[in-house]
Amino acid sequence: MYDVEVGLDPAFTVGTVDPRLFGTFVEHMGRCVYGGIFEPDHPTADEFGFRGDVADLVRELGATVVRYPGGNFVSGYRWEDGVGPVADRPRRLDLAWRSFEPNTVGVDEFCRWARGVGIDPIMAVNLGTRGVDAAVDLLEYANFAPGTTSTADRRVANGHKDPHAIRTWCLGNEMDGPWQVGHKTADEYGRLAAETARAMRRADPDVELVVCGSSNSGMPTFGTWERVVLEHTYDLVDHVSLHAYYEPAGGDVDSFLASSEDMRRMITAIAATADHVGAVRRSDKKLTISFDEWNVWYQNRFAGQEQLETTENGALIEDVYDVTDAVVVGDLLMALLDHCDRVAIACQAQLVNVIGPILTRPGGPAWRQTIFHPFALTARHARGTVLRTAVRTPAVGTQRFGDVPATRVTAVQDPETGALTLLAANRSRTEPARLTVPLRAFGERRLLEHLTIADADPSATNTAEHPDRVVPRPVTGTVVDGDQTLTATLPPSSWHLIRLGA
Ligand code: AHR
Repeated sequence: MYDVEVGLDPAFTVGTVDPRLFGTFVEHMGRCVYGGIFEPDHPTADEFGFRGDVADLVRELGATVVRYPGGNFVSGYRWEDGVGPVADRPRRLDLAWRSFEPNTVGVDEFCRWARGVGIDPIMAVNLGTRGVDAAVDLLEYANFAPGTTSTADRRVANGHKDPHAIRTWCLGNEMDGPWQVGHKTADEYGRLAAETARAMRRADPDVELVVCGSSNSGMPTFGTWERVVLEHTYDLVDHVSLHAYYEPAGGDVDSFLASSEDMRRMITAIAATADHVGAVRRSDKKLTISFDEWNVWYQNRFAGQEQLETTENGALIEDVYDVTDAVVVGDLLMALLDHCDRVAIACQAQLVNVIGPILTRPGGPAWRQTIFHPFALTARHARGTVLRTAVRTPAVGTQRFGDVPATRVTAVQDPETGALTLLAANRSRTEPARLTVPLRAFGERRLLEHLTIADADPSATNTAEHPDRVVPRPVTGTVVDGDQTLTATLPPSSWHLIRLGA
């Protein structure tokens, strides 16, 4: 057992949580759309073919925004193929995943579904094989009022009178990656992104634009890419994107449990890079980060899409997550919250089946993976103001990051209810932690609940047969004493949510 002490004061804050930090991502890939959110023959399908059981789980997950339609897919996508009468829509080759795209679901169907489950769509435009024209046309199609342009009236003729009112737009996807269809150098992409942003802003000055940053921190161009791209686009965009996926590479679970150290360093590094470009321009503007793809992804199990997939909804990267994965996901959410002064948007990738918190069987059930739980709890309770934490904790040694804090703690106070939410991750695989948090600065506090994701078997998973094998469980023995000090025990490899009422 080791000791962790946390210093907290409601007056010392990091910033306010943008609700878009709890975003998700739906790509036309594998069984995310077809066989995931959309399965017309499913017994729970609605009149438009979307699964009701999946929609219920998506609502429970509590995601606030959803990025669409890719991902790598968007870099070869012709959005016009996915609108109008379904019978007339072409079946196309999807070069990103070497699959076929039937175009049964497109912008209109997706936006109606997203609004129906209470999520705001974030739209990505294709800057791989296309450019300014297609992006502005899509903006007009999606957002313009009836009668303004013939492109807007196409939407009305297709049965969608009300504009989709999409506020946030991504200028392409992972354009730094050689795997991307239409991959570009930073200068080539920066110019195209700037031209597209300028045109989109002329069409609608209120859109928020996300320019592509790095696909991961190991990219050889990490940092340089952002500097060059932002030299072209700084005044025209609002956010720069980052992506990161984590796995226990080579079986190194200790480094895997500390994955959020990489995410934290990425955010700090790219915020500094953006600030450098701003400083050179003598700009008052502060860019924020859109961490619009992040998750655990066992990439070592994925050999790439070698063969042309002939079916429309063949399974791709359907990772089954265990308890350790859920602890890492919870810790990654804490890293995003701890940087809420610089991260405005974040999307866990993806939503259903494809590295998703929800899994489905064709014609059968849908269930929550282990990673569903830390996301749902954090999205529900970590709202308001993130507080600065001073955490005294021993370190654990990791191969990838050196010595890192054995326990991480994040604190969020809801200014409306006064509720204080503590999130904690014990990354030690062998030692429990004794957590002590003096709360006197917060007045009188009472414990509302202490839930954990932990298990004697860290490799336990949820399955269709045992969908609730891993769920958040209440922790006994946690107290707030007469001196207003919270004490709790955090078992090895565990993630926690502790809520304290005013
Ligand atoms: O989410 C899976 C893929 O990961 C996305 O299509 C791409 O953007 C990233 O490389």
